[in-house]
Amino acid sequence: MFPWHRITDLEAIMSKYWNPLVHSLTPYVPGEQPQLANLVKLNTNENPYGPSPKVLAALQAEVGADLRLYPDPEARRLKQAIARSYGLAAQQVFVGNGSDEVLAHAFLGLLKQPKPLLFPDITYSFYPVYCRLYGLDYRSVPLTQDFQIAVDDYLQGGGAIILANPNAPTGCLLGLDQVERLLQARQDVVVVIDEAYVDFGGPPIPSAVSLIARYPNLLVVQTLSKSRALAGLRVGFALGQNALIEALERVKNSFNSYPLGRLAIAGAVAAVEDQAYFEQTCRAIVASREVLVRSLTEIGFAVLPSQANFIFARHPRHDAAELAASLRARGIIIRHFPAPRIDQFLRITVGSDEQCAALVACLREIV
Ligand SMILES: Cc1ncc(COP(=O)(O)O)c(C=O)c1O
Repeated sequence: MFPWHRITDLEAIMSKYWNPLVHSLTPYVPGEQPQLANLVKLNTNENPYGPSPKVLAALQAEVGADLRLYPDPEARRLKQAIARSYGLAAQQVFVGNGSDEVLAHAFLGLLKQPKPLLFPDITYSFYPVYCRLYGLDYRSVPLTQDFQIAVDDYLQGGGAIILANPNAPTGCLLGLDQVERLLQARQDVVVVIDEAYVDFGGPPIPSAVSLIARYPNLLVVQTLSKSRALAGLRVGFALGQNALIEALERVKNSFNSYPLGRLAIAGAVAAVEDQAYFEQTCRAIVASREVLVRSLTEIGFAVLPSQANFIFARHPRHDAAELAASLRARGIIIRHFPAPRIDQFLRITVGSDEQCAALVACLREIV
């Protein structure tokens, strides 16, 4: 038998050396990255299509003796490519090792204020984790009965606001008019809009980037992990007026001068520049999402309106945890969050048409 008591002893010995803060942390638990082959993996909102062939070519071209050299700490090529793509100046772009890192810097550099940070009760579960790590006070604001963000609930109080839009894990989108109403009313605080999934909400893409010129309190965060199919490369970015970007640069340069390696910079530039591939794959995913929603509705699921590359669905007669376990036994993994209000929902990534068909066939059998 495995000597579990020894592990406990080891933890006890180690923990006496920990910074007291570490005892209070509850780290984020990412979706499983299984080592088994042949699973239908619909649990972490990855893109079913590979990255653009131009990205693969750019990565191959970058592999060489220059890897002995540190990358450009400012990743200027990438900032310029992103700036061109969004009609901004390079000084309005910040880049980091996945948008998780960009968000972490925003929590420390912008969202940590004397008054509490506001975000929805149901949202990206990394937000409270950053709050504990950086000692931010926060107040969670309940979504409405039908899982929507109500801007009215954010018009007073708090020292900063962060919203995922589309929200995760619901997939629901807050319209751009409502985002602007919030920005207009809350010019006293920073508002971060985490747009990890926004590219699946179009066309036209309902991004708040178009509001940056008018609102100095707006920071938009995006990622190459979803719509650009580069979760494995770890590249995210933030867009905003220079003063907000400068705060992120200060935090970054007090933490890690080189968050993006040479390969990440080269691959990300190629991804951002290949607009045609991006549009084609986003369109395909949106089309698959609509088919998936129809099929699940037909077999009795209630599906929240999704503008993301995943859907959030429940079945009135089947327990969600049991459904997730039955799917897993059949080689399909999706995400189930055992949290208040959402423990009867399944979050299902929109895969390829074949993956979605396999999922629907299994669910049809189970329900
Ligand atoms: C709402 C939201 N924001 C940010 C991220 C982080 O993405 P990444 O660090 O891969 O850029 C995720 C990842 O799933 C997410 O769901």
